[in-house]
Amino acid sequence: MIRLIHRHSTSQQSRGPGRRTWCAVAVAGLALSVAGTFRHVAAEDAAAPVVVIQVPVGLGKLIEPEDNVATAEKIALGKQLYFDKRLSGDNTVSCASCHDPAKGFSNGAQFATGVGGHLGGRNSPTVINAAYQRFQFWDGRAGTLEEQALGPIENPIEMNMKLDDVVAKLNGIEGYRTQFQQIFGTDVTKDGIAKAIAAYERTILSGDAPYDHYKAGDKQAMSEAAVRGMELFFGKAHCSACHSGANFTDNAFHNIGVGEESDKGRATISGLGGDTGAFKTPTLREIARTAPYMHDGSIKTLEEVVQHYNKGGNVNDYLDEEVYELGLTEQEVKDLVTFMKEGLASKSYPDHKPPKLPE
Ligand code: HEC
Ligand code: HEC
Repeated sequence: MIRLIHRHSTSQQSRGPGRRTWCAVAVAGLALSVAGTFRHVAAEDAAAPVVVIQVPVGLGKLIEPEDNVATAEKIALGKQLYFDKRLSGDNTVSCASCHDPAKGFSNGAQFATGVGGHLGGRNSPTVINAAYQRFQFWDGRAGTLEEQALGPIENPIEMNMKLDDVVAKLNGIEGYRTQFQQIFGTDVTKDGIAKAIAAYERTILSGDAPYDHYKAGDKQAMSEAAVRGMELFFGKAHCSACHSGANFTDNAFHNIGVGEESDKGRATISGLGGDTGAFKTPTLREIARTAPYMHDGSIKTLEEVVQHYNKGGNVNDYLDEEVYELGLTEQEVKDLVTFMKEGLASKSYPDHKPPKLPE
Protein backbone atom coordinates (compact mmCIF):
# COMPACT_ATOMS: atom_id res chain seq x y z
CA MET A 1 0.00 0.00 0.00
CA ILE A 2 1.12 3.52 -0.65
CA ARG A 3 0.75 5.80 2.26
CA LEU A 4 0.99 9.53 2.06
CA ILE A 5 2.84 11.02 4.94
CA HIS A 6 2.92 14.66 5.87
CA ARG A 7 6.42 15.91 6.29
CA HIS A 8 6.07 16.75 9.96
CA SER A 9 5.56 13.09 10.75
CA THR A 10 8.50 11.65 8.78
CA SER A 11 11.79 10.66 10.27
CA GLN A 12 13.53 9.07 7.33
CA GLN A 13 17.23 8.84 6.83
CA SER A 14 18.98 10.16 3.79
CA ARG A 15 20.21 7.09 1.99
CA GLY A 16 21.01 5.92 -1.52
CA PRO A 17 19.35 7.11 -4.69
CA GLY A 18 16.54 8.88 -2.89
CA ARG A 19 18.70 11.65 -1.56
CA ARG A 20 17.13 14.24 -3.81
CA THR A 21 13.65 13.55 -2.51
CA TRP A 22 14.85 13.83 1.01
CA CYS A 23 16.59 17.11 0.23
CA ALA A 24 13.42 18.53 -1.22
CA VAL A 25 11.53 17.53 1.87
CA ALA A 26 14.23 18.84 4.15
CA VAL A 27 14.21 22.15 2.32
CA ALA A 28 10.44 22.30 2.58
CA GLY A 29 10.72 21.63 6.28
CA LEU A 30 13.27 24.36 6.65
CA ALA A 31 11.07 26.77 4.80
CA LEU A 32 8.28 25.92 7.18
CA SER A 33 10.39 26.37 10.26
CA VAL A 34 11.36 29.89 9.34
CA ALA A 35 7.90 30.65 8.09
CA GLY A 36 7.71 33.25 5.42
CA THR A 37 11.22 34.61 5.58
CA PHE A 38 13.00 31.91 3.59
CA ARG A 39 10.85 29.94 1.24
CA HIS A 40 12.56 27.46 -1.05
CA VAL A 41 9.34 25.71 -1.91
CA ALA A 42 8.10 26.57 -5.39
CA ALA A 43 5.43 29.23 -5.08
CA GLU A 44 2.77 26.97 -6.53
CA ASP A 45 3.44 24.35 -3.89
CA ALA A 46 3.72 26.73 -1.00
CA ALA A 47 0.12 26.56 0.11
CA ALA A 48 -0.40 22.80 0.18
CA PRO A 49 1.30 20.50 2.66
CA VAL A 50 4.17 18.52 1.14
CA VAL A 51 3.71 14.78 1.29
CA VAL A 52 6.13 11.97 0.82
CA ILE A 53 5.12 8.82 -0.98
CA GLN A 54 5.95 5.80 1.13
CA VAL A 55 7.29 3.20 -1.28
CA PRO A 56 6.63 -0.54 -1.04
CA VAL A 57 9.25 -2.84 0.42
CA GLY A 58 12.09 -3.71 -1.98
CA LEU A 59 12.11 -0.47 -3.98
CA GLY A 60 14.59 2.36 -3.49
CA LYS A 61 13.70 5.86 -2.37
CA LEU A 62 11.61 7.73 -4.86
CA ILE A 63 13.13 10.70 -6.62
CA GLU A 64 10.79 13.61 -7.20
CA PRO A 65 11.79 16.74 -9.11
CA GLU A 66 12.20 19.61 -6.70
CA ASP A 67 9.69 21.73 -8.60
CA ASN A 68 7.02 19.04 -8.45
CA VAL A 69 6.94 17.63 -4.96
CA ALA A 70 3.77 15.61 -4.47
CA THR A 71 0.83 16.63 -2.35
CA ALA A 72 -2.26 14.53 -1.76
CA GLU A 73 -4.34 17.06 -3.71
CA LYS A 74 -1.98 17.06 -6.69
CA ILE A 75 -1.92 13.26 -6.81
CA ALA A 76 -5.73 13.15 -6.70
CA LEU A 77 -5.95 15.67 -9.55
CA GLY A 78 -3.40 13.73 -11.60
CA LYS A 79 -5.40 10.56 -11.13
CA GLN A 80 -8.54 12.23 -12.48
CA LEU A 81 -6.65 13.50 -15.52
CA TYR A 82 -5.13 10.07 -16.08
CA PHE A 83 -8.54 8.41 -16.23
CA ASP A 84 -10.37 11.22 -18.06
CA LYS A 85 -11.24 10.55 -21.71
CA ARG A 86 -12.02 14.22 -22.18
CA LEU A 87 -8.26 14.73 -22.61
CA SER A 88 -8.66 13.18 -26.07
CA GLY A 89 -9.98 14.83 -29.21
CA ASP A 90 -13.15 12.74 -29.43
CA ASN A 91 -13.57 11.89 -25.74
CA THR A 92 -12.87 8.19 -26.27
CA VAL A 93 -9.31 7.67 -25.03
CA SER A 94 -7.59 8.31 -21.70
CA CYS A 95 -4.14 7.40 -20.45
CA ALA A 96 -5.82 4.44 -18.76
CA SER A 97 -7.07 3.15 -22.13
CA CYS A 98 -3.52 2.10 -22.97
CA HIS A 99 -2.15 1.89 -19.43
CA ASP A 100 -5.01 0.11 -17.67
CA PRO A 101 -4.62 -0.94 -14.00
CA ALA A 102 -6.62 -4.10 -14.78
CA LYS A 103 -4.02 -5.03 -17.42
CA GLY A 104 -0.82 -4.33 -15.51
CA PHE A 105 -1.03 -0.66 -16.56
CA SER A 106 -0.55 -1.79 -20.16
CA ASN A 107 -3.34 -2.68 -22.60
CA GLY A 108 -3.14 -6.41 -23.17
CA ALA A 109 -2.66 -5.99 -26.92
CA GLN A 110 0.29 -6.12 -29.28
CA PHE A 111 0.00 -2.46 -30.20
CA ALA A 112 -1.74 0.59 -28.78
CA THR A 113 -5.06 1.72 -30.21
CA GLY A 114 -5.71 5.45 -30.06
CA VAL A 115 -8.57 7.72 -31.17
CA GLY A 116 -10.46 6.57 -34.25
CA GLY A 117 -8.99 3.08 -33.85
CA HIS A 118 -5.52 4.23 -34.99
CA LEU A 119 -2.92 1.60 -34.31
CA GLY A 120 0.55 2.60 -33.12
CA GLY A 121 3.70 0.69 -34.03
CA ARG A 122 4.85 -0.14 -30.53
CA ASN A 123 3.57 -2.08 -27.53
CA SER A 124 2.20 -0.06 -24.58
CA PRO A 125 4.76 -0.37 -21.81
CA THR A 126 3.54 -0.58 -18.25
CA VAL A 127 3.75 2.64 -16.24
CA ILE A 128 4.36 0.66 -13.05
CA ASN A 129 7.55 1.96 -11.43
CA ALA A 130 8.11 4.34 -14.36
CA ALA A 131 8.95 6.79 -11.58
CA TYR A 132 12.24 4.96 -11.17
CA GLN A 133 13.25 5.04 -14.83
CA ARG A 134 16.00 7.27 -16.09
CA PHE A 135 14.41 7.25 -19.55
CA GLN A 136 10.81 7.05 -20.72
CA PHE A 137 9.64 5.31 -23.92
CA TRP A 138 11.19 2.25 -25.52
CA ASP A 139 13.83 4.43 -27.16
CA GLY A 140 14.30 6.67 -24.13
CA ARG A 141 13.32 9.87 -25.92
CA ALA A 142 11.87 11.45 -22.75
CA GLY A 143 13.58 11.74 -19.41
CA THR A 144 11.12 12.73 -16.75
CA LEU A 145 7.48 11.79 -16.35
CA GLU A 146 6.62 15.49 -16.56
CA GLU A 147 8.30 15.62 -19.98
CA GLN A 148 6.50 12.49 -21.11
CA ALA A 149 2.96 13.29 -19.97
CA LEU A 150 1.92 15.78 -22.64
CA GLY A 151 3.23 13.73 -25.57
CA PRO A 152 0.38 11.23 -25.87
CA ILE A 153 -2.27 13.95 -25.63
CA GLU A 154 -0.96 15.66 -28.76
CA ASN A 155 0.03 12.49 -30.61
CA PRO A 156 -2.44 12.24 -33.53
CA ILE A 157 -2.74 8.47 -33.25
CA GLU A 158 -3.03 8.42 -29.47
CA MET A 159 -5.25 11.14 -27.98
CA ASN A 160 -5.05 13.64 -30.85
CA MET A 161 -5.75 16.91 -29.12
CA LYS A 162 -3.84 20.19 -29.31
CA LEU A 163 -2.59 21.18 -25.89
CA ASP A 164 -4.16 24.64 -26.10
CA ASP A 165 -7.49 22.98 -26.83
CA VAL A 166 -7.12 20.60 -23.88
CA VAL A 167 -6.33 23.53 -21.63
CA ALA A 168 -9.38 25.43 -22.87
CA LYS A 169 -11.59 22.34 -22.55
CA LEU A 170 -10.51 21.63 -18.98
CA ASN A 171 -10.85 25.28 -18.02
CA GLY A 172 -14.49 24.91 -19.00
CA ILE A 173 -14.90 22.23 -16.33
CA GLU A 174 -15.53 23.95 -13.03
CA GLY A 175 -14.20 21.06 -10.91
CA TYR A 176 -10.83 21.14 -12.69
CA ARG A 177 -10.51 24.93 -12.56
CA THR A 178 -11.03 24.98 -8.82
CA GLN A 179 -8.50 22.23 -8.21
CA PHE A 180 -5.85 23.89 -10.39
CA GLN A 181 -6.46 27.16 -8.53
CA GLN A 182 -6.04 25.43 -5.19
CA ILE A 183 -2.96 23.43 -6.17
CA PHE A 184 -1.09 25.66 -8.62
CA GLY A 185 -2.68 29.05 -8.00
CA THR A 186 -3.60 29.34 -11.70
CA ASP A 187 -6.30 28.21 -14.09
CA VAL A 188 -5.59 24.97 -15.96
CA THR A 189 -2.18 25.09 -17.68
CA LYS A 190 -0.15 22.61 -19.72
CA ASP A 191 2.54 22.68 -17.09
CA GLY A 192 0.04 21.93 -14.32
CA ILE A 193 -1.47 19.04 -16.29
CA ALA A 194 1.98 17.49 -16.78
CA LYS A 195 2.95 17.95 -13.15
CA ALA A 196 -0.28 16.53 -11.74
CA ILE A 197 -0.22 13.47 -14.01
CA ALA A 198 3.44 12.83 -13.20
CA ALA A 199 2.78 13.17 -9.46
CA TYR A 200 0.02 10.56 -9.77
CA GLU A 201 2.24 8.25 -11.81
CA ARG A 202 4.78 8.27 -9.00
CA THR A 203 2.19 6.47 -6.87
CA ILE A 204 1.88 3.58 -9.37
CA LEU A 205 4.42 1.37 -7.68
CA SER A 206 5.05 -2.31 -7.32
CA GLY A 207 7.36 -3.81 -4.74
CA ASP A 208 6.39 -5.95 -1.75
CA ALA A 209 6.71 -9.10 -3.86
CA PRO A 210 7.68 -12.60 -2.64
CA TYR A 211 11.18 -11.90 -4.03
CA ASP A 212 11.56 -8.84 -1.80
CA HIS A 213 10.49 -10.80 1.27
CA TYR A 214 12.78 -13.67 0.38
CA LYS A 215 15.65 -11.26 -0.05
CA ALA A 216 14.84 -9.66 3.28
CA GLY A 217 15.31 -13.03 4.96
CA ASP A 218 11.94 -14.82 4.81
CA LYS A 219 13.02 -18.09 3.18
CA GLN A 220 9.40 -19.29 3.03
CA ALA A 221 8.36 -16.36 0.86
CA MET A 222 8.91 -18.19 -2.46
CA SER A 223 8.27 -21.74 -3.65
CA GLU A 224 11.26 -24.01 -4.35
CA ALA A 225 10.73 -23.67 -8.10
CA ALA A 226 10.76 -19.88 -7.82
CA VAL A 227 13.95 -19.99 -5.75
CA ARG A 228 15.60 -22.18 -8.39
CA GLY A 229 14.39 -19.73 -11.05
CA MET A 230 15.82 -16.82 -9.09
CA GLU A 231 19.20 -18.51 -8.90
CA LEU A 232 19.15 -19.05 -12.66
CA PHE A 233 18.07 -15.46 -13.22
CA PHE A 234 21.09 -14.13 -11.36
CA GLY A 235 23.38 -16.94 -12.52
CA LYS A 236 23.43 -19.28 -15.50
CA ALA A 237 20.62 -17.52 -17.41
CA HIS A 238 22.43 -14.20 -17.16
CA CYS A 239 19.21 -12.13 -16.99
CA SER A 240 20.50 -9.78 -14.31
CA ALA A 241 23.24 -8.57 -16.66
CA CYS A 242 20.52 -6.16 -17.85
CA HIS A 243 17.48 -6.68 -15.57
CA SER A 244 19.33 -5.47 -12.51
CA GLY A 245 18.62 -3.56 -9.33
CA ALA A 246 15.39 -3.08 -7.44
CA ASN A 247 13.40 -2.32 -10.58
CA PHE A 248 15.01 -5.09 -12.64
CA THR A 249 16.43 -2.74 -15.23
CA ASP A 250 19.83 -1.22 -15.89
CA ASN A 251 18.10 1.82 -17.44
CA ALA A 252 20.04 1.18 -20.61
CA PHE A 253 19.37 0.07 -24.19
CA HIS A 254 20.18 -3.25 -25.80
CA ASN A 255 19.53 -5.11 -29.01
CA ILE A 256 18.29 -8.51 -27.89
CA GLY A 257 17.31 -9.63 -31.36
CA VAL A 258 13.59 -8.97 -31.52
CA GLY A 259 11.57 -6.84 -33.92
CA GLU A 260 11.60 -5.63 -37.48
CA GLU A 261 14.66 -3.91 -38.84
CA SER A 262 12.56 -0.89 -39.76
CA ASP A 263 12.32 0.18 -36.09
CA LYS A 264 15.84 1.36 -35.30
CA GLY A 265 14.99 2.04 -31.63
CA ARG A 266 17.54 3.97 -29.64
CA ALA A 267 19.63 4.75 -32.74
CA THR A 268 17.02 7.25 -33.96
CA ILE A 269 17.52 9.24 -30.75
CA SER A 270 21.25 8.81 -30.15
CA GLY A 271 22.33 8.85 -33.79
CA LEU A 272 24.75 6.03 -33.00
CA GLY A 273 24.82 3.12 -35.40
CA GLY A 274 25.68 0.79 -32.55
CA ASP A 275 22.26 1.50 -31.00
CA THR A 276 20.42 0.04 -33.97
CA GLY A 277 17.56 -2.13 -32.79
CA ALA A 278 18.37 -1.36 -29.18
CA PHE A 279 15.45 -0.73 -26.83
CA LYS A 280 15.19 0.13 -23.16
CA THR A 281 15.45 -2.72 -20.69
CA PRO A 282 11.94 -2.87 -19.19
CA THR A 283 11.12 -3.57 -15.56
CA LEU A 284 10.07 -7.15 -14.86
CA ARG A 285 7.88 -6.36 -11.87
CA GLU A 286 4.25 -7.51 -12.45
CA ILE A 287 5.50 -9.03 -15.70
CA ALA A 288 2.86 -11.80 -15.63
CA ARG A 289 0.17 -9.13 -16.09
CA THR A 290 1.57 -7.33 -19.13
CA ALA A 291 1.64 -9.80 -22.02
CA PRO A 292 2.31 -9.59 -24.90
CA TYR A 293 5.97 -8.67 -24.56
CA MET A 294 8.74 -6.60 -26.18
CA HIS A 295 8.64 -3.20 -27.90
CA ASP A 296 6.70 -4.71 -30.78
CA GLY A 297 4.52 -7.00 -28.68
CA SER A 298 5.81 -9.89 -30.75
CA ILE A 299 6.23 -12.46 -27.96
CA LYS A 300 3.04 -13.76 -26.37
CA THR A 301 4.13 -15.66 -23.27
CA LEU A 302 6.92 -15.67 -20.71
CA GLU A 303 7.84 -19.22 -21.75
CA GLU A 304 8.47 -17.96 -25.27
CA VAL A 305 10.49 -15.02 -23.93
CA VAL A 306 12.80 -17.39 -22.07
CA GLN A 307 13.06 -19.65 -25.14
CA HIS A 308 14.06 -16.58 -27.14
CA TYR A 309 16.96 -15.91 -24.78
CA ASN A 310 17.78 -19.59 -24.51
CA LYS A 311 18.49 -19.82 -28.23
CA GLY A 312 20.63 -16.65 -28.05
CA GLY A 313 18.10 -14.23 -29.58
CA ASN A 314 17.76 -13.61 -33.30
CA VAL A 315 21.28 -13.11 -34.55
CA ASN A 316 21.85 -9.73 -36.21
CA ASP A 317 24.75 -7.31 -36.65
CA TYR A 318 23.89 -5.34 -33.53
CA LEU A 319 23.00 -8.14 -31.12
CA ASP A 320 24.17 -7.35 -27.57
CA GLU A 321 27.13 -9.45 -26.49
CA GLU A 322 25.29 -10.37 -23.29
CA VAL A 323 22.74 -12.31 -25.35
CA TYR A 324 24.01 -15.79 -26.23
CA GLU A 325 22.86 -19.40 -26.20
CA LEU A 326 22.13 -20.38 -22.62
CA GLY A 327 21.71 -24.13 -22.77
CA LEU A 328 18.83 -24.15 -20.29
CA THR A 329 16.92 -27.40 -19.82
CA GLU A 330 13.14 -27.47 -20.09
CA GLN A 331 12.88 -27.58 -16.32
CA GLU A 332 15.15 -24.56 -16.01
CA VAL A 333 13.03 -22.62 -18.48
CA LYS A 334 9.96 -23.42 -16.36
CA ASP A 335 11.70 -22.40 -13.15
CA LEU A 336 12.69 -19.05 -14.60
CA VAL A 337 9.11 -18.42 -15.64
CA THR A 338 7.90 -19.39 -12.17
CA PHE A 339 10.32 -16.94 -10.62
CA MET A 340 9.00 -14.11 -12.78
CA LYS A 341 5.32 -15.02 -12.35
CA GLU A 342 5.36 -15.76 -8.67
CA GLY A 343 8.40 -13.95 -7.34
CA LEU A 344 7.80 -10.57 -8.97
CA ALA A 345 4.04 -10.20 -8.40
CA SER A 346 3.33 -7.74 -5.61
CA LYS A 347 1.15 -8.66 -2.68
CA SER A 348 -0.15 -5.10 -2.76
CA TYR A 349 -0.66 -4.58 -6.47
CA PRO A 350 -1.69 -0.98 -7.21
CA ASP A 351 -5.18 -1.94 -8.36
CA HIS A 352 -6.38 1.62 -8.85
CA LYS A 353 -10.02 2.24 -9.72
CA PRO A 354 -11.18 5.17 -11.84
CA PRO A 355 -11.93 8.14 -9.58
CA LYS A 356 -15.03 10.32 -9.76
CA LEU A 357 -14.37 12.87 -12.49
CA PRO A 358 -15.09 16.56 -12.03
CA GLU A 359 -17.91 18.30 -13.87
C1 HEC B 1 -3.15 5.06 -27.61
C2 HEC B 1 -2.46 4.44 -26.51
C3 HEC B 1 -1.76 5.32 -25.49
C4 HEC B 1 -2.31 6.36 -24.78
C5 HEC B 1 -3.70 6.94 -24.90
C6 HEC B 1 -1.29 6.78 -23.85
N1 HEC B 1 -0.17 6.00 -23.99
FE1 HEC B 1 1.50 6.09 -22.88
N2 HEC B 1 2.42 4.87 -24.16
C7 HEC B 1 1.85 4.23 -25.22
C8 HEC B 1 2.88 3.59 -26.02
C9 HEC B 1 2.65 2.78 -27.28
C10 HEC B 1 4.10 3.90 -25.41
C11 HEC B 1 5.49 3.52 -25.90
C12 HEC B 1 5.82 4.41 -27.07
C13 HEC B 1 7.25 4.35 -27.47
O1 HEC B 1 8.07 3.86 -26.71
O2 HEC B 1 7.57 4.85 -28.55
C14 HEC B 1 3.77 4.69 -24.21
C15 HEC B 1 4.71 5.11 -23.27
C16 HEC B 1 4.37 5.71 -22.07
C17 HEC B 1 5.27 5.91 -20.95
C18 HEC B 1 6.72 5.47 -20.88
C19 HEC B 1 6.83 4.16 -20.15
C20 HEC B 1 8.14 3.50 -20.37
O3 HEC B 1 8.44 2.53 -19.69
O4 HEC B 1 8.91 3.92 -21.23
C21 HEC B 1 4.57 6.54 -19.97
C22 HEC B 1 5.07 6.95 -18.60
C23 HEC B 1 3.23 6.77 -20.50
N3 HEC B 1 3.14 6.24 -21.76
C24 HEC B 1 2.23 7.46 -19.84
C25 HEC B 1 1.08 7.89 -20.47
C26 HEC B 1 0.19 8.93 -19.98
C27 HEC B 1 0.41 9.72 -18.70
C28 HEC B 1 -0.83 9.04 -20.86
C29 HEC B 1 -1.98 10.03 -20.83
C30 HEC B 1 -1.64 11.44 -20.86
C31 HEC B 1 -0.59 8.06 -21.91
N4 HEC B 1 0.58 7.40 -21.65
C32 HEC B 1 -1.45 7.82 -22.97
C33 HEC B 1 0.50 4.19 -25.49
C34 HEC B 1 -0.41 5.12 -25.00
C1 HEC C 1 21.43 -7.77 -22.96
C2 HEC C 1 20.49 -7.33 -21.95
C3 HEC C 1 19.41 -8.30 -21.54
C4 HEC C 1 19.53 -9.58 -21.06
C5 HEC C 1 20.78 -10.38 -20.85
C6 HEC C 1 18.17 -10.02 -20.77
N1 HEC C 1 17.28 -9.05 -21.08
FE1 HEC C 1 15.28 -9.22 -21.00
N2 HEC C 1 15.07 -7.46 -22.02
C7 HEC C 1 16.11 -6.63 -22.37
C8 HEC C 1 15.63 -5.60 -23.26
C9 HEC C 1 16.45 -4.49 -23.87
C10 HEC C 1 14.26 -5.87 -23.46
C11 HEC C 1 13.33 -5.12 -24.41
C12 HEC C 1 13.72 -5.54 -25.82
C13 HEC C 1 12.81 -5.10 -26.94
O1 HEC C 1 11.63 -4.85 -26.73
O2 HEC C 1 13.31 -5.05 -28.08
C14 HEC C 1 13.95 -7.05 -22.64
C15 HEC C 1 12.68 -7.60 -22.52
C16 HEC C 1 12.37 -8.63 -21.65
C17 HEC C 1 11.05 -9.06 -21.34
C18 HEC C 1 9.76 -8.44 -21.87
C19 HEC C 1 9.34 -7.30 -20.99
C20 HEC C 1 8.18 -6.50 -21.49
O3 HEC C 1 7.63 -5.73 -20.69
O4 HEC C 1 7.81 -6.60 -22.67
C21 HEC C 1 11.15 -10.11 -20.45
C22 HEC C 1 10.01 -10.87 -19.81
C23 HEC C 1 12.55 -10.32 -20.23
N3 HEC C 1 13.27 -9.40 -20.97
C24 HEC C 1 13.08 -11.30 -19.41
C25 HEC C 1 14.43 -11.65 -19.42
C26 HEC C 1 14.96 -12.89 -18.90
C27 HEC C 1 14.14 -13.93 -18.18
C28 HEC C 1 16.29 -12.91 -19.15
C29 HEC C 1 17.29 -14.00 -18.88
C30 HEC C 1 16.98 -15.25 -19.49
C31 HEC C 1 16.60 -11.65 -19.83
N4 HEC C 1 15.45 -10.94 -19.99
C32 HEC C 1 17.87 -11.28 -20.27
C33 HEC C 1 17.42 -6.78 -21.98
C34 HEC C 1 17.99 -7.97 -21.56
